Amino acid sequence: MDCYDDPVLWDRAFADETTAEADFITAMHDIHCPALTRQVLEIGCGGGRQVLEMTRRGFAVTAIDLNAKCVSETQRRIRRSGRTARVLQADMSQFELPQKFALAHCLVNTFRHLLSEHAARQHLECVARALLPGGVYLLGFHLLPPDALELDCERWTVLRRGERITTTVRVLEFSRRKRIERVRFSLCQTRGENSRRIAADYRLRIYKADQFRRLLSSVPLLELLQVCDFCYEPTDNFPLTDELGDAVFVLRRRTTD
Ligand SMILES: C[S@@+](CC[C@H](N)C(=O)[O-])C[C@H]1O[C@@H](n2cnc3c(N)ncnc32)[C@H](O)[C@@H]1O
Repeated sequence: MDCYDDPVLWDRAFADETTAEADFITAMHDIHCPALTRQVLEIGCGGGRQVLEMTRRGFAVTAIDLNAKCVSETQRRIRRSGRTARVLQADMSQFELPQKFALAHCLVNTFRHLLSEHAARQHLECVARALLPGGVYLLGFHLLPPDALELDCERWTVLRRGERITTTVRVLEFSRRKRIERVRFSLCQTRGENSRRIAADYRLRIYKADQFRRLLSSVPLLELLQVCDFCYEPTDNFPLTDELGDAVFVLRRRTTD
């Protein structure tokens, strides 16, 4: 089972984050590229929670995801909302879109699904080409802090309309040498007496601050503007060091090639 094959459940498990993320995306647009269009691109849209929220806020949204079920669920929800968005099946490491965007975003570790340096670089190059000059890319993922437990476990619960969804994220394998960890995601949904559980293992690439800095320097079209974290405070700007755990990088598409 791939948890991404159940985009409705996945979306609900992260529902509590939607408003804070959307406030941050909106603020970054207003701060860094207010004169550009309100065209935004979401990369790895899952069940579409952020596509729905950003269209509700008046942005023209295009979204891509590799998983066909995520794409059709997002399209279904957009149709049902009476709004419009372009939602396409595409690989984030090799896509090309006809229009250019003021802002692109890819939050919550999706980027770490790209397991090689080559795929990660290709991804950043695709995004840079998709942005208008001066446009920004918000890229959020966990860096490896020096005090990280290699075999860690994190759990949270979302309560909504009589339903409880508990998400557990457990690191099963970890290799600093290969820069890969294997992580098990389990989602347990309980309503009254009924409960069901889905789980899947994903391999994710590991980044330390230096490793990300090196990757970024190999993509000259992008420059680092600001570093925030998962608190999504638009005025934060942290130094890019290994002290940082969860990072949101604000990257700008340079105005000259
Ligand atoms: C961690 S989920 C995030 C979903 C959504 N952004 C959210 O926050 O609820 C990662 C998403 O990225 C998609 N994904 C994984 N690898 C991808 C790739 N190479 N290209 C495009 N999408 C990918 C998955 O199908 C999944 O929907």
